[in-house]
Amino acid sequence: MASSVLITRQPLGRALEIIAKAASLDLWDSDMPMPRSELLARAAAVDGLYCMLNDRIDRELLLAAPRLRVVSTMAVGVDNIDLAACTKRGVPVGHTPGVLTEATADLAMALLLAAARRIGEGIEHVRSGMWGEFQPDLLLGRDVHSSTIGIVGPGRIGSAVARRASGFGASVLYTGPTAKPMLEQQLGAQRRDLSGLLSEADHVVLTAALVPETHHLIDAPALRLMKPSATLVNVARGPLVDTAALCEALRLGRIAAAGLDVTDPEPLPTGHPLLAMPNCVLTPHLGSASLRTRTEMAEMAARNLVLGLNGEPLEACANPAVYA
Ligand code: DGY
Repeated sequence: MASSVLITRQPLGRALEIIAKAASLDLWDSDMPMPRSELLARAAAVDGLYCMLNDRIDRELLLAAPRLRVVSTMAVGVDNIDLAACTKRGVPVGHTPGVLTEATADLAMALLLAAARRIGEGIEHVRSGMWGEFQPDLLLGRDVHSSTIGIVGPGRIGSAVARRASGFGASVLYTGPTAKPMLEQQLGAQRRDLSGLLSEADHVVLTAALVPETHHLIDAPALRLMKPSATLVNVARGPLVDTAALCEALRLGRIAAAGLDVTDPEPLPTGHPLLAMPNCVLTPHLGSASLRTRTEMAEMAARNLVLGLNGEPLEACANPAVYA
């Protein structure tokens, strides 16, 4: 019997072409995510699943998909996937590390600059017709150049942010489970524990993966350690930050500003307090959203899927224990 795959969102580039050479396709061709009931029903008949970061791949899904031999997500983050359950079932999980590193680091810097230099407020000022004569004290922000930038989670993306920070003439601090000798040698980066980083950094950039240990890593006590002039940037996953605590910190001026590409909940519902805060710059999960990067992700995910269907090792596997 020929393989068949479920694709939960129209992918970019040559992804469909790559998959179609190996399997028959069941494509959810809509701008909205696949409803859970639909996902469970259609997964029943497929050997491979090409999914997005908002599809939950858990035990229930695996039970509903007895033929499933490979899951491939068009993302580097795999917090939506129960890796242990997939490993137990012998299902390799493909993801897309590497190809989105630089684009995501670019967006982190864009958010940092926008939040620290109050670009969002500036745009609003101009658009609302408030732009008058030059004012020496109008919308004064905080410098990014020559500042101290703290990276929480110096993996691929965090290291790429560190390189950019260094290019801005900033000093780099980082915190993470392992030392990064390359960052230390090449950029003069210094390792701190989380508390040390939060209290020393002028700007804090979150690039850590969401795992149980990083859930609400930035909570009310953590925010209290930050400087009142500090900026918090999150390009990783929303639940790294306790949103209620962040709202409070921004409202009370415990920190100066935030730049968020990811939130919890995501998307933010209409009327959410963060939407009304002038010192919060928000983008809708655009970290990897350049045409080239998203196309590369889509095609890499397609290759992972086909390799999995063929029983070959994936180009990037999030649960290598499946091969043990
Ligand atoms: C990922 O890949 O995990 C990002 O969040 C989307 O690019």
